[in-house]
Amino acid sequence: MVDRLKGKVALITGGARGQGREMAELFTREGAQAVIAADILDPADTENSTVEFVKLDVTKDDEWKATVDRIVADHGKIDILVNNAGICLYEPILETSNELYDRVLDVDLKSIFFGMREVLPHMIEKQAGSIINVSSIWGLAGVPNSFAYQAAKGAILNISKNVAATHGTDGIRCNSLHPGYILSPMNEHQAPEINEALIAGTVLKRPGIPIETAYAVLFLASDEASYVTGTALVVDGGYLAP
Ligand SMILES: NC(=O)c1ccc[n+]([C@@H]2O[C@H](COP(=O)([O-])OP(=O)(O)OC[C@H]3O[C@@H](n4cnc5c(N)ncnc54)[C@H](O)[C@@H]3O)[C@@H](O)[C@H]2O)c1
Repeated sequence: MVDRLKGKVALITGGARGQGREMAELFTREGAQAVIAADILDPADTENSTVEFVKLDVTKDDEWKATVDRIVADHGKIDILVNNAGICLYEPILETSNELYDRVLDVDLKSIFFGMREVLPHMIEKQAGSIINVSSIWGLAGVPNSFAYQAAKGAILNISKNVAATHGTDGIRCNSLHPGYILSPMNEHQAPEINEALIAGTVLKRPGIPIETAYAVLFLASDEASYVTGTALVVDGGYLAP
């Protein structure tokens, strides 16, 4: 299928690699007017890509302002915001320092506050917009360790519902995405026994791949999801199903 995003301008954070990069490339194939992938990292293999790659540290509100202002100046609007950037640290609560907690919450949660606060006025002006905030299955269920990550990912569920409730009458939809174990650079050095346990816990008995979450985000971003807001879409091979 093509042209599901015809005429749309999309900003995707954490878009240099992994799931965010896959979303960005899929969005361009679906006819978006412009796709801006923002990251602290430089992307690789950009030769055949029409994605616009920009530098953005999502923890810095002044960088958010500059990035959003430039996109609106260049493209006239932002129809779709995907807050995908994130880091995962595994420390349990008793090993979580103040610094570690603040770092994870800054990258995984406060960044989404900054991003939505910057983009929402432009969406309100157009009375249209779709925001997708990437959480995790660990935003819905408990797991040993990863205390700060769970704090952030759980809160993403609620702030997404809050924005959906607050700005629905402005024509803006806001949803959260909850991936399970997806093969990406984030977990490529994860211990094999953890990966095996995650796979064993799915009903499909395999990990996911980035295009599978990208298609879910494409649906939420597109007008096909025009009556879908304030919901949590789980893409986890059935891990949370039993
Ligand atoms: N891979 C999984 O199994 C899995 C499962 C559930 C949720 N997630 C979530 O999916 C999202 C994408 O992760 P991924 O799997 O593609 O891993 P990834 O590590 O490849 O992607 C994360 C991206 O975020 C970027 N990033 C980190 N800090 C940043 C900052 N301060 N400013 C801008 N960009 C920053 C990284 O550079 C990277 O490109 C994350 O929010 C992650 O928590 C991943």
